[in-house]
Amino acid sequence: MGKKFNIIAFAGSLRKSSYNKYLINNIKKLGIEKLNIEIIDLKDIPLYNEDVEKEGLPEAVEKLRNKISEADGVIIATPEYNYSFSGVLKNTIDWISRPPNQPLNGKPLAIVGASMGPSGTIRAQLHLRHSLIYLNPIILNKPEIFVPFAHEKFDVDGNLKDEDTTKFIKMFIDSFYQWIRKINCISD
Ligand SMILES: Cc1cc2nc3c(=O)[nH]c(=O)nc-3n(C[C@H](O)[C@H](O)[C@H](O)COP(=O)(O)O)c2cc1C
Repeated sequence: MGKKFNIIAFAGSLRKSSYNKYLINNIKKLGIEKLNIEIIDLKDIPLYNEDVEKEGLPEAVEKLRNKISEADGVIIATPEYNYSFSGVLKNTIDWISRPPNQPLNGKPLAIVGASMGPSGTIRAQLHLRHSLIYLNPIILNKPEIFVPFAHEKFDVDGNLKDEDTTKFIKMFIDSFYQWIRKINCISD
């Protein structure tokens, strides 16, 4: 087994029983041998305001930016709201995007998502990719991790109960792990 990577993960949903939070919790559990995943809750990130930024970055924003800078990779779990990603996520991206030292620049990144609809956040994920262009992360393209009908895939405690989704997520963890190795030119 090669080097374990330190990953920052966050979900674009604030609710306690968020399927996207469940998704990253399960990725953390299933990926334990390859990835150390720290999950950040976005509840303390204030609404972006350029006046506030000029006075200095809010503590929660600075903390998130620093953690991303130090991490080997980032996982974003997006809900789908009205065919796009959530305002919570857009707000966070706006804070992260501000120069200098954009923390996502050159960073391995994976997008995942869970929704109650049949498209499983595919539309949200495409919009998210678009908004990340200027931040310049190196985004994993395949496998695409989208969990449709999310309300049927987790039990009441947020554990994955669907075998196919579990297999799919294990495959994703392997791919993201190899992606980070490739970007860091690790071949041993
Ligand atoms: C404002 C709003 C818009 C939504 N729009 C969509 C949508 O476009 N596509 C979809 O599949 N689900 C949609 N949903 C349902 C979400 O997939 C569902 O609420 C999901 O649980 C949100 O993610 P979370 O569990 O991480 O909070 C919407 C929900 C809300 C509250």
